[in-house]
This record gives sequence, structure tokens and C-alpha cells, in this order.
Amino acid sequence: MPVHEHYIDGEWRSGEGEETFESRSPATRETLGEFQRGTPADVAAAVEAAEDAQEEWRALSYVDRAEYLWEIYEELKDRHEELGRTVSQECGKEISEGKADVTEAWHMVEWAAGNARHPHGDVVPSEIPSKDAYMRRKPRGVIGCITPWNFPVAIPFWHMALALVEGNTVVWKPAEQTPYCGQIIAEMFDDTGIPDGVFNMVQGYGDAGNAIVENDTVDTVLFTGSAEVGHSIAEKLGGVPGRDVALEMGGKNAVVVTEEADLDIAVHSALMSSFKTTGQRCVSAERLIVHEDVYDEFKSRFVDLAEDVAVGDPLDENTFMGPLADADQVEKFHDYNQLAREEGVDVLVDREDLDAEEIPDGHEEGFWVGPFVYETDYDDELRCIEEEVFGPHVALIPYSGDIERALEIHNAVDYGLAGAIVSEDYRQINYYRDHAEVGLSYGNLPCIGAEVHLPFGGVKKSGSGPASAREAIEAVTERTAWTLNNSKDIEMAQGLSADIKTDDE
Ligand code: UN1
Repeated sequence: MPVHEHYIDGEWRSGEGEETFESRSPATRETLGEFQRGTPADVAAAVEAAEDAQEEWRALSYVDRAEYLWEIYEELKDRHEELGRTVSQECGKEISEGKADVTEAWHMVEWAAGNARHPHGDVVPSEIPSKDAYMRRKPRGVIGCITPWNFPVAIPFWHMALALVEGNTVVWKPAEQTPYCGQIIAEMFDDTGIPDGVFNMVQGYGDAGNAIVENDTVDTVLFTGSAEVGHSIAEKLGGVPGRDVALEMGGKNAVVVTEEADLDIAVHSALMSSFKTTGQRCVSAERLIVHEDVYDEFKSRFVDLAEDVAVGDPLDENTFMGPLADADQVEKFHDYNQLAREEGVDVLVDREDLDAEEIPDGHEEGFWVGPFVYETDYDDELRCIEEEVFGPHVALIPYSGDIERALEIHNAVDYGLAGAIVSEDYRQINYYRDHAEVGLSYGNLPCIGAEVHLPFGGVKKSGSGPASAREAIEAVTERTAWTLNNSKDIEMAQGLSADIKTDDE
């Protein structure tokens, strides 16, 4: 099998590094491909190519730049089935999710390329009638993109589609768990004939990502991933003149079920929020905050389903949960389950180690786990209900009293990405909408599945800088002001005198 290379300055390059790494399916552990491991020198070469390509690329019209993206849009659609399977094989999420990842990618491309024909600024009335004032957008320059494995096709396009249409060039490092999806995306860019250096991809690990962060030529870093890495990027770049970051990180998200909830909707929403993508969305819920009046019924229905949800081959359409993504995820999941036990919770569903017969034939080596569900009264000392696990680990937390109490518990975490309320009472819903400390919230729905034309971002520890998806436009452009005087005289705003006074007068 050939070793897949980096894509730098319009060509495939093996780079400076000696090491390679493999992509292996988390369900079967079979090898999907071998890849060059990028070094800081490879990143430096990619950034230089991106910098050199800047002038030519930004000189094209928006519409011409978007043409390259429309080709990718068509290809993503044409190859939907095949790419969906590849996503599922490489990151382990079940096939409807693998396909949805590809769909989300073309939605983002469609939004970004379609936006090329939309207004990009405003005409602003000047205080002076003879002046025209405008707000415009200019590309920032070179954008560094660091993306996660859980949405290996969609999230790269959240970052890159907008960045490119706006006139930036990009250097992208895909997640080390999903380099094969990275390879396919790079091939798509190559097929479009996009000018050399406009799109660059370096495969590799955190050291390559760090080289993007530390390179002063990279004007904006777009990062989606763990809070730990995100905050270290923020620390490095915070306050550095001319260098921007937009960070999307995790959450300790919750679904609130009030005494006015329709329990069919509540159980359905909670189950999807907790276990879709095997709990590995940054918007997944790990807390279910349930009013005492409906707690017993909710608990019994939720627990019954969590005992039964189908864990299995991600390519099988009857699977609800595939495996976790890698050995680190499995270890973290077990560690947090253990922590919860030590913190004295009552375990309700313990499928943490699946029985042998639950594991599909030929998949014995996969990273299999099932739901781990527990109940506990709210206690601000408990780490298990405050820290993100990124797995099917979920707490049922009863509350009594009014919606204000539910929101106190809801907001008592450092994170603030996504959340949902299930209630038939519009006053409770509106209270939640106005007081939930999150960037994305939902009523009578799961807290997953955001659409790309909404801002996707968090507050508190979950995000910083402009949100992703549509709003990334703020991170990859400068909004600039331009004022043109149409008169022969200079007249200033604010009543400022334009007279030149000399000592002779
Ligand atoms: C993530 O959770 O890492 O809202 C991204 C959603 C998807 C994106 C999730 N559109 O669930």
C-alpha cells in the first residue's frame, strides 16, 4: 500500500519526516491507510506556500473563488454513500451519521459558495452629505485549520469553505484519527485545479498542529476540539497583535425535563442527546436534569431503552451506537465511570464492558463500550457531573421546585455549549431560552444536530472568538470601514474643523 502524502503547494509531498502512521477502523482495527507524519518543517513549507498564493487568490472575484467550491459540492453529493461509509469506517459512527457528516459538509460548502453572490458589506450614511461610507470585508490572509475526528468531513468544511471563498488561503491539519478522510478531501481540492498553495494539508499529530499555532504568518487559527488543547492555543495567541483565534470546544451539556414535559419527547430527546455518536459530539448531553414529579417514570423509560440500544457494526443500518474512536477514549470513559462510582452515585445501567455476544463477529478488537447511566442528587462537589467525558456516560439528576432551580443546576458547570429543555409550558421554555448559559439551545428536541446556517459556538469554557459554521466569516475576514469624499472640499464629521490655521493669519 502506498504511503499517503501531504498536499503542499499544489503537489503531493512526502515531507521532511521519517515517520508514518496508520489509520485503523475503531470497529475492526483493520488498516485503512498509511500516512506521512507531518513535522514542523512540513507545516512551515505549507504556510509559506499559502502566503505566496495569497495575492493571486484574493485578486479573484468571490464568484470565481466559489466556483472551485461548487465542484466539491457536486462531488460530495455524488459520492454521498461511499464517503458516508468511509466516515463510518474511519471514526466508527453509525452509517446514518457517517452520511449526515458528508451532507453537513456540502451544506456548509453550499452556504459559503452561495454567499459569494450575497452582499458583503453595507453602505452607511455619512454625517457629511458629500461622503460615501462603506463597511467592507477583507480576507485575513493565511488561515490555519485544526479539526477533530468526530466530524471528519463536515468540520473541515466549516473552517475551509468560508475561509477560501472569502479570499484566504489555508493550511489544514486533519485529526490523526481520521487522516483518510483528510486524504479524500485533499484529492477533491486537487481535482478542482485550485491554484497551487491556496489549499494545503499536512497530516500528523499535535506537534504539527502546534507548528500551525506558533507560525506568525498564520493570521487566524480555527480550532475545533478538546478544551485542553483549545485553551493552550488561546493562551499562546491571546493578545498577540495580528493573530486571531476562533475556538470550538466541548461541553458538559444537559437536557432539562420539567414537570410539564411530554415524556415521549423527553425520553427520545435524552436518548439521542446522550448516545448518538456514542456520546462523542461536543454537543452530546451527559446530564439529564429531571423534575421530581416525572422523575420515576422518566427514569424507568430511559433506563429500559439505555439497556437495549443497539451497539454494533457502524456499517449496519440497525446500529444505534458504534464503537468509541480510540483507546484513549475508552480509557477516559472507564476512568470517569470509576470516578462516578467513587463519588457515590447509584449506577442504573452498566454496559461499560459489553458481553462478548454483543460484539459483532469479526469486530472483537474494536473499541466497544455501551451506555453507563447513573443517578445522583445534585452536589457541586461531584466532578463526574462537571467534567466532560466524551462518551456514553450520563447522569440523571432530579430536581424539585421551579424552572429557576433547574437552571441553577444547568448553569453550574464551567462549560456552555449546547442544551435543551423539554416542556409543554411556554413560560418554562422561554425562561430556559433566556437563562441557559449556552451557545446553542433547543426546545422539545435533542441538543444535537445543529444546522450550518446557525451560529455554532459556546460560551464560558466551551468557546472563544467567533462561532463556527456560518459565523466563522467573522474570524476569517476583517470588517473594514472605507469613506470616499465626493466633494472638492474636505469636510469633517463631528463638527471637527478642517481649516488649516497658520501663524500668519
Ligand atoms: C460536534 O459536536 O463536535 O450540532 C459538532 C451537531 C452537528 C455538529 C456537531 N451539526 O450535532
